[in-house]
Amino acid sequence: MLQIKRAGHSTLTTPDIERMIDYFTRIVGLSVAAREKSRAILATKSGLEAIVLERGSAVEAPRLSFQIAPGSDLGEVAAGLKKAGIASERRTDITPGIGEALTFKDPKGTTLEIYSDFAFSPEDPNFTGVMPLKFGHIAYQCPDVQGVVKFYCDTLGFRVSDWRSDFFAFLRCSRDHHTVNFLRNEQVAIHHVAFEVRDWSDIKRACDLLARNSIKLTWGPIRHIIGHNIAIYHKNPDGVTIEFFCDMDQMFDEELGFFEPRPWHQDRPQRPKVWGDDTPSNWWGPMSHHGTPAPKPAIESAVTAQPRAPAHASARRRDAQKKSPSKGKRRR
Ligand SMILES: [Fe+2]
Repeated sequence: MLQIKRAGHSTLTTPDIERMIDYFTRIVGLSVAAREKSRAILATKSGLEAIVLERGSAVEAPRLSFQIAPGSDLGEVAAGLKKAGIASERRTDITPGIGEALTFKDPKGTTLEIYSDFAFSPEDPNFTGVMPLKFGHIAYQCPDVQGVVKFYCDTLGFRVSDWRSDFFAFLRCSRDHHTVNFLRNEQVAIHHVAFEVRDWSDIKRACDLLARNSIKLTWGPIRHIIGHNIAIYHKNPDGVTIEFFCDMDQMFDEELGFFEPRPWHQDRPQRPKVWGDDTPSNWWGPMSHHGTPAPKPAIESAVTAQPRAPAHASARRRDAQKKSPSKGKRRR
């Protein structure tokens, strides 16, 4: 089994690469680390690669990169994957920061780029946009969430942080509560892409910057319950939902098995689990219970419990979401 340590970058395809470079540099506050004819590699101001843009007819997220331990022998990793029945391909020059990687597809068709060694891009001293700390997580919609979760845990070394019922999974590969999320839906698609910012004051600054650029928030500011991050959401020019967040739950010690205690947690201690279907999407802000105490959370462990069959209310809600997909995209 691999042991993923962190997410590297997400590759996004776009019909209008110039427009997206402008958005990601001027609004998000990333820097162009490299520019090729049909591709741009974007990094944080500190030099962490975060997004690769590629020309494409559809708006998709076809590749996702992950770092394993520096110095790992990719030949040995490939042999281990082969034993597990996974054929991988060795590739070079993925980005300026990733000289070599193993690539293979996950069960929903996303190409994973696994690398051991990474070189930071030069620091960009020019302050523009929101300037996130890092690429935080990506959420995908896919039909077989259970199958994808099993692959990420068994093959890549992810741990389940939380489930919402049986249809939305949050997985961690580091101390961060989630680096990937999988939400059940018929079609494979991007659900949202998230960037971590320093703190609440950066969220406020992001709200002002988005407003100055006539970009409406589609949700937030809120504090989620699952993950407990403070978050705001908007749509980028390609229609992809982008999240800025801070204050996400942290699992500092896997053996202790609980997230670092926080006053806003529902459980003491807050352990990975399956949250009930009626859990509000957030603790405060739009779609919270507006001061009404949240229902008593389920006490099952997310690691050992089988996700439960959805309650009738949830099934009705998902039926409604199928008829009105835009509403469904907000739930988490
Ligand atoms: Fe998110």
